[in-house]
Amino acid sequence: MQDRNITRRKLLKATLIGSATLAASSPGRGRAAIGGVGTPATLGGQPVRTAPFPRWPEFGEADEEAVLPVLRSGVWSRSKVVVEAEKRFAQLMDADYCLATCNGTNAIFTSLCALDIGAGDEVIMTPYTFLGSLHPILLAGALPVFADIDPDTWQIDPAKIEAKINPNTAAILPVHILGGICDMDRINAIAKKHDLKVIEDACESHGGEWKGKKVGNLGDLGCFSFQTGKSLTCGEGGAILGRNEPLMDRCYSFHDFGRGRGSVRPTGGQNYAMVATKCRMAEYQAAILISQMEKFEAECKRRSENAAYLTEKLARIPGIVPRPDYPDVTRKAFYYYGLRYQPEQFDGLSRQQFIAALGAEGIPANTSLGVLSDTPMNREGCLDDAFQSKAYQMIYPAEKLANYQAENECPACDRLIEETVGFHQSMLLGPRQDMDDIANAVGKIYEHRRKLAAAK
Ligand SMILES: Cc1ncc(COP(=O)(O)O)c(C=O)c1O
Repeated sequence: MQDRNITRRKLLKATLIGSATLAASSPGRGRAAIGGVGTPATLGGQPVRTAPFPRWPEFGEADEEAVLPVLRSGVWSRSKVVVEAEKRFAQLMDADYCLATCNGTNAIFTSLCALDIGAGDEVIMTPYTFLGSLHPILLAGALPVFADIDPDTWQIDPAKIEAKINPNTAAILPVHILGGICDMDRINAIAKKHDLKVIEDACESHGGEWKGKKVGNLGDLGCFSFQTGKSLTCGEGGAILGRNEPLMDRCYSFHDFGRGRGSVRPTGGQNYAMVATKCRMAEYQAAILISQMEKFEAECKRRSENAAYLTEKLARIPGIVPRPDYPDVTRKAFYYYGLRYQPEQFDGLSRQQFIAALGAEGIPANTSLGVLSDTPMNREGCLDDAFQSKAYQMIYPAEKLANYQAENECPACDRLIEETVGFHQSMLLGPRQDMDDIANAVGKIYEHRRKLAAAK
């Protein structure tokens, strides 16, 4: 933390010098190094932009041409198009095996059940995620156990994981949140030491790489979502990646009513091998997914380049702390571009006022970053619902459930939730000028912070 502050001070100093030089040499855009010029739009000035950012999902004729034949074929349930999508997604993610599912939530549920994680088991997870990470654990009858976040990277803090392990711990669910990546070296070392399974929730980080290896391949199984807002989408959809064929057979069987496949065979000539569900991907979803995959690499590159440029600009503004990644992240992915907003540096301008001022400048931002509704997962109402159920009361000691909240406090996450501001990944897909607009709007608000705060 201290090192970063020093770096930020140095950066700020360099910026102020740079900004003065720029102001002298280029009128109009000159002061853009720290702030946009002009009066803030909420105080009656011109907005930084009125043009929309790139739409999402982005689609065109290629998607229509991919879907129409499937529609006309009348084969809409899982068949050869889904198999093709699995092959292509495995290739794109450098994975051995891929199973497509109807969404990311069920990819995680399938993974837990295929690994036989359920009643009486504990699964360690982050509080800073979306409900799609939590519900599958509860549906499986397992107990979610929360380890607080690393306040720098916002990912689960490996240093907090080990203290949560007991003889009932069965797995760790590292969630690569917002497109970042958890410290997988440390998590895997802990898992190995305590003989735990690792299921990556990579629902937000398609294409991210840890030491050159793609997420989804870093644990026992890796789960993805193709829901509309994600950087690879087919509206709704999901996938599981894995290296172990018999385990992937179990995933397949679980996701298809327990039908046997490969090493999973029903006994006694029956049709169904296990208690299961059905969460298959449909053919038309797969057709869109295949078509969307065509532009995925180019989009990843564009987002990374724009984000790096934006970070360089935003980090110069006091009170704006873009989320950094661990140094071992060799390729960044994006679901939301996240930053901490520190109102004390903006003369007390509240986060809501800051977001409203950005909106008036034509820059859509939000606090939830698509993952949370300002409630961390360790305080979600569904936990109480589960704990009051007959099943949970039979499985878990009353004392354990009574002490649950106190034992699952995560203060670093509570603080983060109060400070986050984010931009959807689609805002990183336009030209570089869009990044200048975002930075200029933030800078303009910073420069007029006193007036804006007083205009409460
Ligand atoms: C971190 C995380 N996990 C799980 C999910 C669940 O995915 P889906 O919405 O496809 O069920 C999502 C996304 O919605 C997510 O962001």
